[in-house]
Amino acid sequence: MVTINSNYLKLKAGYLFPEIARRVNAYLVENPDATIIKLGIGDVTEPLPAACREAMTAAVADMGDRDRFKGYGPEQGYIWLREAIATHDFQARGCDIDASEIFISDGSKCDCGNILDIFGDDNSIAVTDPVYPVYVDTNVMAGNTGEVNERGEYGGLVYLPISAENNFTAAIPDRKVDLIYLCFPNNPTGATATEEHLQAWVDYARGHGSLILFDAAYEAFITDPSLPHSIYEIEGARDCAIEFRSFSKNAGFTGTRCALTVVPKSLQGKAADGSDVSLWSLWNRRQSTKFNGVSYIVQRGAEAVYSEAGQTEVKALVAFYLENARIIGEHLAASGFKVYGGINAPYVWVQAPNGLSSWDFFDKLLHHCHVVGTPGAGFGAAGEGYFRISAFNSRANVEAAMGRISQQFS
Ligand code: MLT
Repeated sequence: MVTINSNYLKLKAGYLFPEIARRVNAYLVENPDATIIKLGIGDVTEPLPAACREAMTAAVADMGDRDRFKGYGPEQGYIWLREAIATHDFQARGCDIDASEIFISDGSKCDCGNILDIFGDDNSIAVTDPVYPVYVDTNVMAGNTGEVNERGEYGGLVYLPISAENNFTAAIPDRKVDLIYLCFPNNPTGATATEEHLQAWVDYARGHGSLILFDAAYEAFITDPSLPHSIYEIEGARDCAIEFRSFSKNAGFTGTRCALTVVPKSLQGKAADGSDVSLWSLWNRRQSTKFNGVSYIVQRGAEAVYSEAGQTEVKALVAFYLENARIIGEHLAASGFKVYGGINAPYVWVQAPNGLSSWDFFDKLLHHCHVVGTPGAGFGAAGEGYFRISAFNSRANVEAAMGRISQQFS
């Protein structure tokens, strides 16, 4: 019989979102008539922008024409998409990022996990608590952690607590860590980071030879002009940060799949013999060996995000979900909840009432309001007693869900 990767046995229960779906389905078996409104996983509901659909339709036509047909594309992504991204998302904001440093992929979640392939197993790794569970679970799978304790913390990881007391921005560690995961706007708390805060992290990383893994999947939701969208807006970040971005939440590509990872050519790692090795070269080697790129059709759709019509439509989509977030925050606050986030982010972070645990509040909302959210405890020990509500749903569903919650808790 084959042996297995025993690191998987260290993982806590199932991955958070399938676990929520399991509980909801079990409830529906008992209560088949319940009309459940899902504000749990951050999955978009509004149709793809017409500009993207039209570009994809034209790309399908290309695939039916012998002269325009495409087989395998470049593993790193088509240059026309990478150039559009470099120009609009980075250079327009003053970031020194070249198209050759951008890698197109099928998702930030995948890239956040896959990136571990290029690092050694002896790095110290810091994550915030609460945190997007993918950062933790992929490190467990890769064998970078010890066992889990009764609080749900894995041995070997450095947990940086974030809470209302520190504006959900982690304090800079007083010891050296090699890899640091940062996510702004933050999943799950909806918090943002100022330029000063990110500068402090970049200075720390450069001072200690650390690498920041910066998840900017929600950058499009930043409305405050003083807040940075990219880590590369921060001086020195080219030497210490990889950035992950996605078309999922801004342009509605959760089902279509397209994302990107920026690996500056200036980034170096240490080999066992002490020599410096380019992280760009390693990631390029990894991707060209294990990945054959995102489909031509989808990349054409993503390129259309940067057309004039695409930009107008994407801005409207983001504004739509932000208005949902505003409605959620306003209703919950009026019902007496303590609420955070939801202003420059599509997630509202709320304290469970009356000292309820996250999962008890989950059950209460499911059973009494037929509304699904995400228990804060699923994002880490420090998320206990909190709850995340996603703004990704139709206006009618958001308003109906808030009406039910207000009725139950006011
Ligand atoms: C979430 O709800 O946290 C996200 O949708 C998960 C993801 O993007 O993978």
